[in-house]
Amino acid sequence: MVAPIEAQQRAQALRISINEHNYAYYVLDDPIIPDVEYDRLFQELQDLERTYPDLIILESPTQRVGSQPLKALGEVKHSAPMLSLSNGFSKEALVDFDRRVRARLNADPISYVAEPKFDGLAVNLLYQEGVLVQGATRGDGFTGENVTHNIRTISTVPLWLRGDKIPALLEVRGEVYMPKAQFTRFNQEQAVKGNRTFINPRNAAAGSLRQLDPAITARRPLVLCCYGVGSIEPEEVLPIWHSETLIQLQQWGFPVSPNFKEVMGIEGCWEYCQQLLELRESLPYEIDGVVIKVNNLAQQRDLGVITRAPRWAIAYKFPAQEALTCLLDIEIQVGRTGVLTPVAKLSPIFVGGVMVSKATLHNEHEIQRKDIRVGDTVYVRRAGDVIPEVVKVILERRPTGSYPFKMPKQCPVCNAEVVKDTERAAARCSGGLYCPAQCKGRIKHFASRRAMDIQGLGEKLIDQLIQKALIKDVADLYQLRMDQLLILEGIGQKSATNLINAIEHSKDTTLPRFLYALGIREVGEATAQILAKEFGCLEALTAVSEEQLQQVNSIGPTIAAHIATFFRQPHNRQIIYRLQQAGVRWPEEQQHGSLFRALPLSGKTFVLTGSLESMTRNQAKAQLQHLGGKVNTSVSSKVDYLVVGAHPGSSLEKAEKLKIKLLDEAHFLRLLTSKV
Ligand code: IVH
Repeated sequence: MVAPIEAQQRAQALRISINEHNYAYYVLDDPIIPDVEYDRLFQELQDLERTYPDLIILESPTQRVGSQPLKALGEVKHSAPMLSLSNGFSKEALVDFDRRVRARLNADPISYVAEPKFDGLAVNLLYQEGVLVQGATRGDGFTGENVTHNIRTISTVPLWLRGDKIPALLEVRGEVYMPKAQFTRFNQEQAVKGNRTFINPRNAAAGSLRQLDPAITARRPLVLCCYGVGSIEPEEVLPIWHSETLIQLQQWGFPVSPNFKEVMGIEGCWEYCQQLLELRESLPYEIDGVVIKVNNLAQQRDLGVITRAPRWAIAYKFPAQEALTCLLDIEIQVGRTGVLTPVAKLSPIFVGGVMVSKATLHNEHEIQRKDIRVGDTVYVRRAGDVIPEVVKVILERRPTGSYPFKMPKQCPVCNAEVVKDTERAAARCSGGLYCPAQCKGRIKHFASRRAMDIQGLGEKLIDQLIQKALIKDVADLYQLRMDQLLILEGIGQKSATNLINAIEHSKDTTLPRFLYALGIREVGEATAQILAKEFGCLEALTAVSEEQLQQVNSIGPTIAAHIATFFRQPHNRQIIYRLQQAGVRWPEEQQHGSLFRALPLSGKTFVLTGSLESMTRNQAKAQLQHLGGKVNTSVSSKVDYLVVGAHPGSSLEKAEKLKIKLLDEAHFLRLLTSKV
């Protein structure tokens, strides 16, 4: 059925509108309308096209989801070759480059543009009369693969140009990449599905773009960023400067890096390189360096090209994040929760700017999946500050006689049986409190900077303290004496004094730190903060049920169970008691969450005076706090009750004056029992 004129007009209006919204969303990062509204427009266009299939045109935004799969990717001859760049690895290389440029142009200083060097896949996009007609990979620089069907599926690729001065012909050069976070997620999903995983975002982008079935590409999180023009007709449309070209590209609808910068002379370039290197980890995409380009396009033309690289540009390369090395051994580490983690011992290698000699292997399943064996030559990757990782094995270099890895059946530290935690694909030592490795891990965690912050208590020292039976748990730390420390290896008078002081100093802590330090499973810093805020004091937290815990925002059934189980264990309660006895203390949290307010005595303030027969003052305090009550040390008008034992102090007189309610021991006990 041929679409009536109104439907044709409406479809065109929708296409334009959706295109504008895509531009605002993907290029400007500044959406004009909410997602639901966008979805509504999209849906309307889809409906129209379904009713009148003749309305479907290739450049319709609905066609991004992918057309029919191809038998093979065709070839495309680039009208202007896609050049490569000469590389520089030092400041000297950049200085040399600048010297050559200045000499050839007879100009000084030179205006440059510095840009991130994206680590993806170079593409060439061809627009005729403003409409995308072809997308190609770089290939050998002269001939690439035709990936038009896949390019169309990338949301950031404009299907037609917006704005004015639209050239009759335009070839835009850019990089297709997969952002870091999306790469990690995508790889995890692939692993779960048992599909092939990719060693880095670059390979993932290349693999995704070179698919025969565009529906597959459409599901991959690919992004485009443009950095130049290959050819253009008429040439007069092009501005004078490269920096203006980038702005023009953006106005036509192309995503351009917001990080490009105009700089003067090579010193300016160098400063940019340093800044970008600092930013490298925080950028959402991978970069492998900086591209420096002569800004003036006429100067670029004068400088020209040697063999296959332009004289007007250079790539300053950052340290590589990947390297090959030999896997010497697989060691098993036992963490504080008993999880056995296999760690690769590597022949030391420089990667990601640092010397690496260990890499995580995650778990047995991962090792089997990647078939990693001792003696293998492995591909190691260290991106940013993440732990180095063995991403794959070079099978061709595997020595003969190697055998697959097997997780030990017994804990390598305490010999206890290893049990499989299928839910988390982990192997766990069942030694619990008896396993010195778990013990060491818990003490290390307790003393760590973000927990109790006991400075100077490092791994080696903890090892010795455990070996010499000076400590068994964290509470023992507060009983350590100078003479005990002095018998340890590598510790003198000064460091022993410092350690004793640091332990003393750590007693003054905060409730969130203390909760985090306890090392309850899955209670990290954020959860510890939430718990402290909700319950205000430790006593209230230890008294609540699993169900009550689950009512706290962001605390699910698993964490609630871990917390409740932890506080139910007599040995844990004992350790907490001993810690408090030793003087570990924290100010009460100021604000209480809704759950705490729901406790029977919340909002009520007590003071205790004199001695009680049935319990100590500390026990009475703890009981009151259990029920949500606040316990002050001195009487003021803010106090609701004074609990009066035998031989009361001056508080009694003061309370009588202020007409504060008095509770003798019998009334106090009745209050406690009635509220439980
Ligand atoms: S300009 C003639 N700018 O680096 C200059 N290239 O070896 C052509 N690349 O695969 C390239 N980011 O895809 C330029 N901001 C950037 C770039 C960039 C990444 C890639 C390019 C090509 C390689 C050049």
